[in-house]
This record gives sequence, structure tokens and C-alpha cells, in this order.
Amino acid sequence: MLENKRILLIVAGGIAAVKVPDLIRRLRERGASVRCVVTKGGAQFVTPLTLAALSGDKVYQDLFSLTDESEMGHIRLSREADVLLVAPATADIMAKMATGQADDLATTALLATDKPVMIAPSMNAMMWTHPATQANLLTLQNRGVRVVGPGAGDLACGEVGDGRMAEVPELIAALTQFFQKTQDRGPLTGKHAIVTSGPTHEPIDGVRYIANRSSGKQGHAIAAALADLGATVTLVSGPTAEPAPPGVTVRKIETAAQMLKACQAALPADIAVCAAAVADWKVEGAGASKIKKGKAPPELKLSENPDILATLAAAGPARPKLVIGFAAETDDLIDNAKAKRAAKKCDWIVANDVSPASGALGGDSNTVHLVTAEGVESWPTLKKRAVAERLAERIATFAEKNL
Ligand code: CTP
Repeated sequence: MLENKRILLIVAGGIAAVKVPDLIRRLRERGASVRCVVTKGGAQFVTPLTLAALSGDKVYQDLFSLTDESEMGHIRLSREADVLLVAPATADIMAKMATGQADDLATTALLATDKPVMIAPSMNAMMWTHPATQANLLTLQNRGVRVVGPGAGDLACGEVGDGRMAEVPELIAALTQFFQKTQDRGPLTGKHAIVTSGPTHEPIDGVRYIANRSSGKQGHAIAAALADLGATVTLVSGPTAEPAPPGVTVRKIETAAQMLKACQAALPADIAVCAAAVADWKVEGAGASKIKKGKAPPELKLSENPDILATLAAAGPARPKLVIGFAAETDDLIDNAKAKRAAKKCDWIVANDVSPASGALGGDSNTVHLVTAEGVESWPTLKKRAVAERLAERIATFAEKNL
């Protein structure tokens, strides 16, 4: 899988840089070509000479090197690769990547690239868990940067915890998997899926809104699972803390009206999966000014939001061939789900119990039943990611025959 793959390996200044020579060896054994960029800090831990000898290529260090720039400008360097791997990725380089700084060759190449980027974080456990690093991590993940590790264990600083750079076999496996996914023409290759996810926020005034407890975990997992099977995915998401799944186009919205507009703009599609917990009502006449506290609490007049699922499922030339909804129920799960399927004219409904005892809303697991024209299939309690994979497989089977 790594045969003839071009890897731009960016070595930043962490002790885990000592694992890099072995990584280069293993990558080259598998037929990949490795070109190294090393930061000033990185060169303190592994010499450019070692990297050059093992990679069999020139090692790039200096943004302002006349020879490097004339032989191979930093833009070309960042583009003549199939993937950029930052290993080790220190807290510093992650912060620079997150804020778009470009003060050396490594960060400039990372900013100039149009290729996928993978990072292998490595740092002290406190640095890793620091809110600044975690915020940077989320920013990077939201931009589609893939993250491998870190693992837990003894750290070079003598402390124990999270922050150990992924081991070489783990890095090789992550790269292999990455190329497998991009190369495999999965069963949904050429198909476009729209997925809605998360809650919507309906403004009451300029500072307040109505929302619900949806985390977006299930919808995001479905988008990721469909992309893994080769689909082109547009994920229309309400406000969530979930990172954007790699390889998925994300349209961020706040209100139900915006969600509908974004879904319609994403048409045509072969598949639509409406997993969002759309607010049923909006506040009429919500303005930009903050409602001031008066003698009596204000009365909110609600009006119904558009039903995105029903709109997408309505007959017409733009209707995706397979429209799937969710039924979030606290009572009479299956009967309500069947009624919803009929009322909204969607093809399948994934019924899930969202009563507080189920822990589904905001939790990591889901117990669902797939309601189709053929009947009801009850699935065991699964992690949301597993529910997503199973649903994506079912969609792929449908697509094989019908799309
Ligand atoms: N849905 C939607 N747009 C809405 C409301 C719901 O697209 N305005 C979709 C959801 O994404 C889900 C399905 O409709 O796929 C069912 O949502 P659910 O909240 O279970 O049901 P509601 O239609 O809101 O009905 P009720 O609240 O009465 O159960």
C-alpha cells in the first residue's frame, strides 16, 4: 500500500525524533519515498546527515536557503508529496499550525500544502492536556488534519501519562490505512450523500437561543462511515463540539432554516441521512436586541420550523433515491417510528430511544431499530461509530442494487 507513495516527513524538536530513523527505514522498506524537512529543534535530536543517509534524499532545513529555494521552492516541496507527516508534532508546531504561522520551512510548507496532513503528537502529559494544546488539536482536526496517538506511558521527562509519540508500527499502520481509504474505490464511490447532524439553535433574541442536548456524535459518525466507503459527503451540522470527519465537506449552520437551505444547496444527492435533532419551533420575531427583564416574563410566540427530512423526501426530480430519517422517541418507539416513516415519506427510519435512562442523547452508545418497508430490524446496543458503520454498510448494499 505504501509502494511509490511520497511522504514529506516533518521532524520537529522533540525527543521522539529519535524514532524517526527507524520510521524512515520501515517506510522505505515498504517502497515509499521519504523526503525530510527538519526544524531547528528537530536537528537537535536527529542529525540532518542521518536523515539524508536514511531517506536517500536531500534534507530541507532553511526557508531562506538560496540553494534549496532555487532547487526546490518551499511551495513545490509541500506539493510534491502524497501526504505530509509531522513526527514528532510538538505542542509548539501544533500551535503554529493551528494559528497559521509560517516562520520556518516546516511551518511554511504546512501552510502552503494542498495535500493531506497527519500529525503524531509528542510532548509532556501536562502540555498535552493543557487547554491550549487541546484547543489547537480540535482546530486542526476540524480542518481535516489526521492525528495518530499519542499513547500513554513513561515520558522522557520522567513523568507518566499521555504524550508518547505513536510507535513506528502504529505510524506505518495509520499511513497504510490512509492510503487504503484514498485508493480503495469503496462501494459508495461516485455517490453523493448529505448528512445532517447536531442540534439547531433557534434565537430568542440577540444573545439567547432554544436548543437541545444533541451532541452530533451519531450524525458525524455516519458522515465519516459513508466517506470511508468512498461516498462524497456533505455534512450539514448544527453547533457541536465534534471535529469534522476527515475527507468530509462540512457546512456549519445554526438554525433549522439555515440547515434546510444548506441541504438544498448541496443537492443533487443520491443519499440523504437526517440525523440532526432539529428544533421543531423557532421564536417568531426574534431580533438582534437583548430582551430586557421587565415586570412580567416575556411571552414567546413559537412557529413551526421547516421539516428538513420531509422536504428532502418529498417526491420530485431532486429527491435523493434513499432518504433516511431518525426517530428520537421516549415512548412507543417502534409505533412512533413507523408513523414517522409514513408521515415524512422517507425510505428508512432509524428509531432510537432517547429517554434519559437510555443515555443516547450526548452519550457514546445507541440502541436502534432499523424500520424499512420490509420490516423492523433490532440492532444490539452499539457504540455510535459502530451504528454508523452498520448503517453505511446497509446503504452500500442498497446502493449496489438501486443507485
Ligand atoms: N427532522 C427534520 N426537520 C425537522 C424536524 C425533524 O429534518 N424540523 C428530522 C430529524 O432529523 C429526524 C426526523 O426528522 O431524522 C425525526 O425527528 P424527531 O425529532 O424524532 O421527530 P419530529 O419530527 O421532530 O417529531 P416529534 O418531535 O413530534 O417526535
